[in-house]
Amino acid sequence: MIRTCVAGASAAIASAIFAVLAVSSLPGSSARAEDAKKETSADGGYKMVAPLEAIMQVMDDSVFSKILDQAKAGKFKDVKREGLFLAEIANLTSQEKDHRTNKEWLGFTETMKAGALKLAEAADKKDEGAVKAQHAAMEKTCDACHEKFRDN
Ligand code: HEC
Repeated sequence: MIRTCVAGASAAIASAIFAVLAVSSLPGSSARAEDAKKETSADGGYKMVAPLEAIMQVMDDSVFSKILDQAKAGKFKDVKREGLFLAEIANLTSQEKDHRTNKEWLGFTETMKAGALKLAEAADKKDEGAVKAQHAAMEKTCDACHEKFRDN
């Protein structure tokens, strides 16, 4: 079973390499590569490959909504990591291509980042009350941004 998968994977890699070679030998392909370069540097140089909805959903289900239970169980080391992860998700969210130049959007992502860093700090001090308070404060930021920017 494993062997079949490996064989399948290397066949896929081989055909991907072949496709790249085939495309790069077509006339006009270097002009297209130049266009792609321009596109990414003009819009900030960072290109998200996942839709924001997917990032948000996993961040909430797998991290944000579990934090209070983890703090209650005394898993402060995990809570600290999660706070840092949420801060980085806020950073990532700030780069979303349709909003990265919108000041209000960037205000919300900055507030989310600051809240997440404070939550990590509270976890570092093993302060369950402060983790709870920061979690509640963050939730207000989530809701405020959704109110303004989410269409559903
Ligand atoms: C900077 C703005 C912003 C912040 C801050 C933000 N979100 Fe979102 N969120 C969005 C937008 C916009 C969408 C809709 C994305 C789409 O459907 O394309 C979304 C979608 C979601 C979704 C997907 C499902 C749904 O209800 O549409 C969840 C879950 C979610 N956010 C949770 C959170 C949580 C939890 C936080 C705070 C920890 C948060 N978000 C912070 C902008 C934000």
